[in-house]
Amino acid sequence: MIIQSAEFIISNTDVRKLPTADLPEYAFIGRSNVGKSSLINAMTRRKGLAKTSQKPGKTQLINHFLINKNWYLVDLPGYGFAQTSKKNRQIWEKFIRKYLLERENLQCVFVLIDSRHEPQKIDLDFCYWLGEQGIPFLLVFTKADKQSLVKSEQNVAKFRRALKTWFEAAPDCFITSSETRSGCEDILHAIQEINDKFQLPE
Ligand code: GTP
Ligand code: MG
Repeated sequence: MIIQSAEFIISNTDVRKLPTADLPEYAFIGRSNVGKSSLINAMTRRKGLAKTSQKPGKTQLINHFLINKNWYLVDLPGYGFAQTSKKNRQIWEKFIRKYLLERENLQCVFVLIDSRHEPQKIDLDFCYWLGEQGIPFLLVFTKADKQSLVKSEQNVAKFRRALKTWFEAAPDCFITSSETRSGCEDILHAIQEINDKFQLPE
């Protein structure tokens, strides 16, 4: 897919103020610092589009980006950010959950996982929750430039195996790097295929 335009539309803490749900939408979610915002910038080839940071917890709002004027890419705050109070965390979780459960035009959630790590409970639990709620999701393994492809593939295989105790078939996986842009076109291709079939909910 060629990215002709990518515009920031709105940041939200209120699900009622989201853009009208008339275009297909894709959300990026995953642990704090996993590389969600960086991947959005790499995919769109716009360095400063989504704000990135070395410090976890940078993205604290639901951020909507309009791509090619016909689909939304959404940057969500990371989960598992320890340096916030429990109360704060519960507020965020409630709000993200509400977004994921109620957003009618949400086509697919991309769950980002650090390719350097063995499967982590917090990521597996989140995938189980999505599965239970019937929310379609795909897995994106990030920061693959930091190690060999073999090592990334081993961690992907372990994650898939862990999911298989719950799911009949593990979802599709992408191995990516925001530094090299590897995997970006594959994700865009997957989005294009879903966009082509999109119909407004009745
Ligand atoms: P929150 O908004 O805090 O939840 O974080 P995030 O998931 O949006 O992460 P962000 O994109 O801000 O990236 C966190 C850090 O990881 C930054 O220092 C990035 O430069 C770095 N990073 C992200 N993706 C990659 C990657 O593919 N390769 C390398 N080497 N570094 C990356
Ligand atoms: Mg971010």
